Amino acid sequence: MPASPLAKACSACLVLLLALAAAQTTHRERYRPQVHFSPREHWTNDPNGLVYFHGEYHLFFQYNPFGDEWGHMSWGHAVSTDLLHWRELPVAIPELGNEMVFTGSVVVDSKNTSGFCAAGKECLVAIYTGHYSPGPVRQTQNLAYSVDNGRTWTRYAQNPVLDLHMADFRDPSVSWDEKQGHWLMAVSLPKEHKIRFYASPDLKRWTQLSDFGPSGDVDGDWECPDLLRVPAESGSADAWVLKIGLNPGAPQGGSGEQYFVGSFDGKRFVTSGEPGSHRDGAHGWTNYGKDDYCAISFNNLPPRDRPILIGWMNNWQYAAKLPTSPWRGQMSLPRRLSLIKDGAGLALKQEPITAPLRTEHRRIRQTESTEISGGLEAPFELDLNFGNPSEQVFGIRLYTDDKHWTEIGFDRAKQEFYTDRRQSGMAITPDFPLKTVAPLAENRPYDLTVIVDRSSIEAYAQGGTIAMTNLVFPSSDKNRLVLFTASRKPVAVTGDAWKLRTIWK
Ligand code: FRU
Repeated sequence: MPASPLAKACSACLVLLLALAAAQTTHRERYRPQVHFSPREHWTNDPNGLVYFHGEYHLFFQYNPFGDEWGHMSWGHAVSTDLLHWRELPVAIPELGNEMVFTGSVVVDSKNTSGFCAAGKECLVAIYTGHYSPGPVRQTQNLAYSVDNGRTWTRYAQNPVLDLHMADFRDPSVSWDEKQGHWLMAVSLPKEHKIRFYASPDLKRWTQLSDFGPSGDVDGDWECPDLLRVPAESGSADAWVLKIGLNPGAPQGGSGEQYFVGSFDGKRFVTSGEPGSHRDGAHGWTNYGKDDYCAISFNNLPPRDRPILIGWMNNWQYAAKLPTSPWRGQMSLPRRLSLIKDGAGLALKQEPITAPLRTEHRRIRQTESTEISGGLEAPFELDLNFGNPSEQVFGIRLYTDDKHWTEIGFDRAKQEFYTDRRQSGMAITPDFPLKTVAPLAENRPYDLTVIVDRSSIEAYAQGGTIAMTNLVFPSSDKNRLVLFTASRKPVAVTGDAWKLRTIWK
């Protein structure tokens, strides 16, 4: 029986009301990041295929379109014109049959080397790992392309383009090598602890160039490599940085990322051996917190921009247990990279991009009182400079109620910078409550940038040479800001505070 016009109108009204209600609550949930990207619903892990193209930044991401746990891995998609305000689009590359779409990159094929682009036009090509199961697991490198600004994707009919008949061979990072005039791929052999470099004229035919590793930390799988040319800010020449994910076995437990500074001659990456990134010889960690993994950089940035990294703000130890709904997983802020060389050696410097979100500026100048008056509600940013205090231990505590706080501090006696989230709120799993530490360099400044969102604290210290990103699940968004010292005497601090505007409309 056909529905009456009244019934039809009512059901249309109901759909509209439900859509309006969803729009009201979306991105306003408890713990929903307000300045970090998260998908509207369902599971995400690694960022994929970061690329700037025709005025848009594209963020693809490991995504389960059907639920809030890992599975059905596909590429989700979001675009932005400022790296902060993201608009989520439909799934870009879905799981197909027994092929899941694992991590990879997207390049702009401006010379149509692949032949995928329309005549005389440039187009986007994705190089991703096809993960085949059930049956004997196999991972191969595959292509897909888009001729409509990343909106729709077609798989290459002759995939795979690289197949070693291995179960673990993944996460291709591809970029155009201007000097050599070919495509360059860094891809991981996770169990061998090797990053293998390949070259190609057309993204389809690949020739092996060299292997890097094993080196540095090899306690877990090597994943998500990225080879970056990083400009020097001062005191040294530009250098190459090779960043490699490690899971498990990172110093804070679970997943983390080490980096090496060195040179790349078009074929081979060699570590410089110079006193480098902090104290552990020629390699350091891109993040000393517990929650930053598989960060990759953007391809095709405007010529004078520095490399920009985005990571997955999470840890495989407890990623499946995060108490968030209807989404699970979020990205770090984008961070611009440069290299510095000073008395303490070489170090990667990371600067989070927040300026477009800053509002309600407050200047901070504290000498006597320990509390920064008024407090702040997440999301907010603090930039503090402690000068050169005589105190051995000092920093700031962010109280969300009388019993819950996160402490971020410098401990000169132990030569550590740290974030202590043991009292920060919900504990999630036994691996969650902890103090994450980074080696402190005596001759670098005691400065601190803290970005507090509803379920994370990103801290950057010592001129951005230490990054420390940690999830927190606090009791409230309201923060009392209390400076502390071991001697309980006030410490002098100058700086700035801003409220940050939400990135969601
Ligand atoms: C890292 C990782 C990658 C893989 C992807 C699968 O987090 O294990 O090596 O491509 O996740 O989702």
